[in-house]
Amino acid sequence: MLPRVVICASGEGSNFTAMVLASRAGSLPVAIAGLIVDRVGAPVIDRARREGVPHALIAPAQFDSRDRWDQAVTSQLQAWRADWVALAGYLNLVGPAVLAAFPGRVVNSHPALLPRFGGKGMYGDRVHAAVLAAGESETGVTIHLIDEVFDRGQIIAQAKVPVLAGDSIERLAERVKAREREFYPEVLARLVAPSLQKFTP
Ligand code: GRF
Repeated sequence: MLPRVVICASGEGSNFTAMVLASRAGSLPVAIAGLIVDRVGAPVIDRARREGVPHALIAPAQFDSRDRWDQAVTSQLQAWRADWVALAGYLNLVGPAVLAAFPGRVVNSHPALLPRFGGKGMYGDRVHAAVLAAGESETGVTIHLIDEVFDRGQIIAQAKVPVLAGDSIERLAERVKAREREFYPEVLARLVAPSLQKFTP
């Protein structure tokens, strides 16, 4: 039986689609069991509908505490019998109930080379703006496990992406995202494949 992966996303969803297509093509040998979204109207919801992947909108604002929200997310992951949780542009800090239920099984992609250019508030274009402001000659993609602090968990793999002369935030972001859409499914495939459990970075 294929490992079951639930994707959590807040925004555009290009990584979501990349994982769904890779799983369908067989290069990512998992079943995408569902999508959890934490923002009303996120474009990723339409992508899930198009791809026929079930989705659940579970936003913190729908609950009277973050603990209840965290419990609801955990219950949905369990209802979909998730083996792994893959964050793909998910802006909320994953709660302690999810981490306790899926220890070492929550994966994230960050659009820079952690530990640099990470941490609270460092997401989307802010990351690329900081890379450009620092005058870096390369940036990249980091796939890492999640713990209770933003962008601090164990690094599994990194891919480098060059920063080119005259790059704008948009051009750099698109170059990083293009690499990320290939790299995240590849790394996830190695991580979840039972025969490759000893995979090391
Ligand atoms: C990705 O670059 C991811 O690394 C970051 O947010 C972006 C999400 O893009 N955490 P998308 O929603 O998958 O298109």
